[in-house]
Amino acid sequence: MKTPRYTALVETLPASVPFVGPEAQERARGAAFVARIGANESVFGPSPHAIAAMQKAAGEAWMYGDPELYDLREAIATHHGVTRANVVVGEGIDGLLGYLVRLLIAPGDAVVTSDGAYPTFNYHVTGFGGVLHKVAYAGDHEDPEALLAKARAVDAKLIYFANPDNPMGSWHDAAIVQRMIDALPDGAVLALDEAYADTAPDGAIPPLDMTHPRVIRLRTFSKAYGLAGLRVGYGLAHVDFANAFNKIRHHFGMGRVAQAAALAALGDQDHLRATVAGIAEARAAIAAIARDNGLVPLPSATNFVTIDCGRDGAFARAVLAGLVARGIFVRMPFTPPQDRCIRVSAGTPADLAAFAAALPVALAEASLTAS
Ligand SMILES: Cc1ncc(COP(=O)(O)O)c(C=O)c1O
Repeated sequence: MKTPRYTALVETLPASVPFVGPEAQERARGAAFVARIGANESVFGPSPHAIAAMQKAAGEAWMYGDPELYDLREAIATHHGVTRANVVVGEGIDGLLGYLVRLLIAPGDAVVTSDGAYPTFNYHVTGFGGVLHKVAYAGDHEDPEALLAKARAVDAKLIYFANPDNPMGSWHDAAIVQRMIDALPDGAVLALDEAYADTAPDGAIPPLDMTHPRVIRLRTFSKAYGLAGLRVGYGLAHVDFANAFNKIRHHFGMGRVAQAAALAALGDQDHLRATVAGIAEARAAIAAIARDNGLVPLPSATNFVTIDCGRDGAFARAVLAGLVARGIFVRMPFTPPQDRCIRVSAGTPADLAAFAAALPVALAEASLTAS
């Protein structure tokens, strides 16, 4: 046998990644983007304290990071009023989603998500042989009732629900999310992805309750804390559930520099507040640009604004292509009817000025090609 003997499951998988990165797009274009406002990163950057902590930790990077992540987990626990034993840290929410699926899903097991929701979750489910059952959005919101009904119908072991949501930027009130938690079918785990909790309006995030045995709340340092490139996320869960991750997590997966940076970032809540204010301003500016061009910005609880281009997916894709051709990196939802939209992350004033200049041209071009 000349080739490696891959598992039967791996033989069935496409060689794909959930997203084509902006770097790959820049290589393909042969030019750098003028504005990088497509991946919901934070152009406001990390806290200066986090930068200083990384600089200090850089010289100590010959040592592995603490595999128990004691200090970081302790600080996260204090921040949220839970105990260290409730906290599991991983390589971004993306990494934790992978662990979660590995913990729960064997080939053939049923998993429920929304059609068009965060694709990295689907990538992990497929990678472990789970069977995805998808539920349509209701309007531009994920539909908690339909997710629960589907989970009951297929005896799902795992339900994914993001509040606030990517790619639509929409959110549900805490009471609705709490009802979903209370009505969770027996044996089903709820992965409540709260990547955008820091930018959500008051009343969108239900209180943390670490007594439920099958709910995990997922948070990240990638968004409002401005540390996407470091890969630090965490889950808050019942002690037994959080402990289960210790059976499979990469114990040296969180490097020393990353641990130090996240700890310092968490300690600088002033920077977080300033960033959230900057995001709100940028969202208003993006919405104004959309309206100036006759488009409809959707309400957003996140660090991006999803803009309804008013026609079908082909039109929105043409608008997106026009923006990318002009050096504006943005993305769009993949699934109809949400794919009538483009998604623009909070940018600097210069980013948004470049977007404002490119959008009318991209729209005019798209109207010509799509008519
Ligand atoms: C809903 C949602 N979950 C998770 C992530 C990824 O988070 P992390 O960088 O912590 O892996 C994103 C990033 O865009 C997201 O939008």
